[in-house]
Order: sequence, then C-alpha cells, then structure tokens
Amino acid sequence: MKITNICCIGAGYVGGPTMAVIAKKNPNIKVTIVDINAERIAAWNDEDVSNLPIYEPGLAEIVEETRGKNLFFTTEIDKTIKESEMIFISVNTPTKTYGKGKGMAADLKYVELCARNIAEVATTDKIVVEKSTLPVRTAQAIKSILHNTGKDVKFSILSNPEFLAEGTAVQDLLNPDRVLIGGESEEAIESLANVYASWVPQDRILRTNVWSSELSKLTANAFLAQRISSINAISELCEHTEADVNEVAKAIGMDSRIGPKFLNASIGFGGSCFQKDILNLVYIARSYNLQAVADYWEQVIILNDHQKRRFSDNLISTLYNTVSGKKIAMLGWAFKKDTNDTRESAAIYVADHLLSEQANIAVYDPKVNGEKVQADLNYLNTRSEAENKELVKSYNDPYEVTKDAHAVAIMTEWDEFKTYDWQKIYDQMKKPAFIFDGRNILDPIEMKNIGFEYSSIGK
Ligand code: UDX
Ligand code: ADP
Repeated sequence: MKITNICCIGAGYVGGPTMAVIAKKNPNIKVTIVDINAERIAAWNDEDVSNLPIYEPGLAEIVEETRGKNLFFTTEIDKTIKESEMIFISVNTPTKTYGKGKGMAADLKYVELCARNIAEVATTDKIVVEKSTLPVRTAQAIKSILHNTGKDVKFSILSNPEFLAEGTAVQDLLNPDRVLIGGESEEAIESLANVYASWVPQDRILRTNVWSSELSKLTANAFLAQRISSINAISELCEHTEADVNEVAKAIGMDSRIGPKFLNASIGFGGSCFQKDILNLVYIARSYNLQAVADYWEQVIILNDHQKRRFSDNLISTLYNTVSGKKIAMLGWAFKKDTNDTRESAAIYVADHLLSEQANIAVYDPKVNGEKVQADLNYLNTRSEAENKELVKSYNDPYEVTKDAHAVAIMTEWDEFKTYDWQKIYDQMKKPAFIFDGRNILDPIEMKNIGFEYSSIGK
C-alpha cells in the first residue's frame, strides 16, 4: 500500500517526537497527530515552539521546520482516521489502578477506545500500528475489535515498539539501533518498513512475528532496568565495604560482554516505562502460572523501591534522626535530565517519605513547574492537597531553593547542577551543611573542601 497520509492517535512523549521525525524524513507523507486533549494540541500548535507540551532537545527545531508543511496537530480524530492509510496508536497505557490486575497489568482502555474509534469511522483499508508499550497479545485484541465491525474494510495490525529514551528521543529516532516491525501481512510490514527506510538502513529494520515484537519491547526494558537494579544492589554493598561503585562499574563495564552503558548507580530508576513494563511481564508470567519467572523479574522492582527508601532513610538518620521542620532542598524533580517528564520519578517518592517525617521540601527543577510537583504528590493521596501545598514550595532559582536549607538532595542529573557556585550555596545553608548526591554528579573532594558533609551513592 502506498502511504501518503499517516494518522497518529496520541500527541504525547512517544507520538510527538516519533511523528515529527517521520514527517521530517518523509516530506511526501502528510503526518497528522490527533489527541482528545485540546489543550495539548493547542500547545503543539503554539507559534512559539518553546511552549510545546513536551521538552526534548532538538524537537522544537524539527517541529518548526515541518509543522504546517507535512506535520499537523488537530483534535479532528474521525476525519484524520478516515483520510489516512496508516494509523499509529500512541496513547497512554498506565498500570491499572482498579479491579483485576490492579497495580500490575496495563490498563488498555485507551487503546481499546482507539481501536473502536478506528473501527467505527474507517471506510477504506487501514494499516494499524501499535506504538504504545503493550502487553503481549494486545495486537490480537485490537484485531478482534477491528475485524468485528461488520464493514467491508481490511485492517492489518502491526506491532512497532518504540525504543526511544526521553531526553535523547530525537537522536534515538534519527539514528536508531534498530526498528522492529512485527506483523502477519508482509505487504503491511513492507509499507511501514518503507516509511523508515527513508533514513534507517535496511539491515537495521527487523521483521518478526507480532508476539516476538511485543515481547521484545518488554524484555528490552526489563533487561535495562535489571542492570540498574543490579548496580544499585552493588552500591549498597559498596557503602558497607571500602569499595566505590563507580570504580566497580568502570571495571566491569570494560568487559565487552557486559559493556559500559547503564551502569550508573542512582536513587532508583523512574520514567513511564520500566516499572510498568516489568509489572506487565510479571503479570503475564503469573497468568501462565510461571511463578519463578514472575518472582525473578519482580525482584528488579523490589530492589528499586528499596533503593529509593534507603536514600531517604539515610538522609533522615544523617540529619540526627529527624527532618521535622527542616528545609530539605531538592535539586531536580524530573525522572532524568533533559526532560520535563516526572512519571514515576524517584524524587516524588523520596519527597513523600520525607514529608511523612514532617520535612519542609523546597524544589527546583529547570523544566518542571510547581503545579506539576503538587499534582505528582497529590496523586499519591498520602496527605491532603492543602498539606502538600503548605509543606512543599517550588523555586525558580537554585540559590533561593538552597538558602537556609539543612540539606540539599540531588534527585536528577541535570548538567547545570555541576556548574553552580557551591561555595555560595554552602555559605547560605544551615550548618552543618549536608549534600545527598543521589546521582553521583558532584566532585566529593571539592565538596568536602568547601565544608559540606557530602554523601553519595555506593561510596
Ligand atoms: C526507557 C528505555 O531506555 C527506552 O528504550 C524505552 O523506549 C522507554 O524506556 P526512558 O525511561 O525514557 O527510556 O529513559 P532511560 O534513559 O532508560 O532511563 C530510565 C531511568 O533509569 C531514569 O530514571 C534514569 O535516571 C535511570 N538510570 C538510567 C539510572 O539510574 N542509571 C543508569 O545507568 C541509566
Ligand atoms: P506516552 O508517553 O506513551 O506518549 P502520554 O501520556 O505522553 O504517553 O501521551 C498519550 C496521549 O494520548 C495523551 O495526550 C492522551 O490525551 C492521548 N489519548 C489517550 N486516549 C486517546 C484517545 N482515545 N484518542 C485520542 N487521544 C488519546
């Protein structure tokens, strides 16, 4: 099928950057991103590209170059579906918060709504591409919804998982390690492969069956998360011995079988994918009664929760076993640098724990505003919104946030944190002045020379 019109349902962290790059690399294809959230669409259409709803280095430039030419953002979902030969489903698939599979299984209601929407309005044959991270065999469910519409329209379903990481999304899309396409119809697979072939070498475009493709996405994320939990487990052992986790990571990373990436010990991984995907994997394994498999992967999450808890426990015990009424300055709220995304960020859980110990939390993040911080804490439902508002303040300036603080906790590895005048910060903090470097980004010797009581992960 010749593709001239692509529709993407869901203008989020996956749909937005992915479609922007597809549009840039395929000037002859009209790419339209639709969303039910009118505010989000308006932000994507904002003339000033610094107001786009998501922040990704390099994205604003691509949107500026393609928007209005062959990249469009609209809430006209039905019309766009009708006009397109290929439809990507890029809606959110959060972990269920109710009913069967609560806290474990992916909530597929948004995906199902999309499938029903497509089934209802389509009048010509369509290739439907799953882009959202989904449990294995979701394509089967989509297929069954689409094929029972009673209309004479042919649907081909493909799985095309996204491997981009936030903060480097544009680079990951422009130069992917691989593109994975799972499907039954060879013709449909080749139609999608041709879209990518505009810039991705053929040998990096893998074709598999649908289920291998779906499972590969969950497995890739599970392996990556497992590496972080592995190095974080070693970091705790380092803190009880004389070993230094950075030295251990370097030493093992030079083994070409292990490799150097993804070995940074931290306060624990966050983001919308890792925990959700592992929970999915565990849920699927349990549903097939594969207890040992489920328990094995669940341990990656248990260790991650332990790491976040350990960080806040250590902070409290170092501050003489009480943080009540003390100002704790948090540098960073996003789940990693170079993104404004805060989903599952370790900062949320550490703050929540410290708040339960009656701390006053002061937050500064270069890309996350105070409203988001409040919303993240309110979502946990640990205390009233009024209490969160009273105990948590956000600042726009790193020197204001740290002024009169008893401790600074580094939650995100933003580059700018390394360039601050730490002497100035020290001078205006309460003494002794503590730093808890949850990302190991500052120089321990320099900090100690200034006078800080400095602690980091795994040393
Ligand atoms: C991840 C996968 O990398 C990507 O392929 C998939 O498509 C989506 O999920 P993302 O969650 O955006 O991407 O970011 P990633 O760079 O993987 O980081 C996830 C979390 O792990 C962050 O909180 C990060 O700070 C943490 N991390 C990463 C570490 O703690 N240590 C590391 O060495 C690497
Ligand atoms: P991701 O990180 O997977 O991209 P986001 O939450 O950032 O997730 O984006 C998903 C987007 O999908 C949201 O903007 C949401 O409004 C949109 N969405 C969810 N359901 C539908 C639907 N049925 N039709 C159109 N858009 C939808």
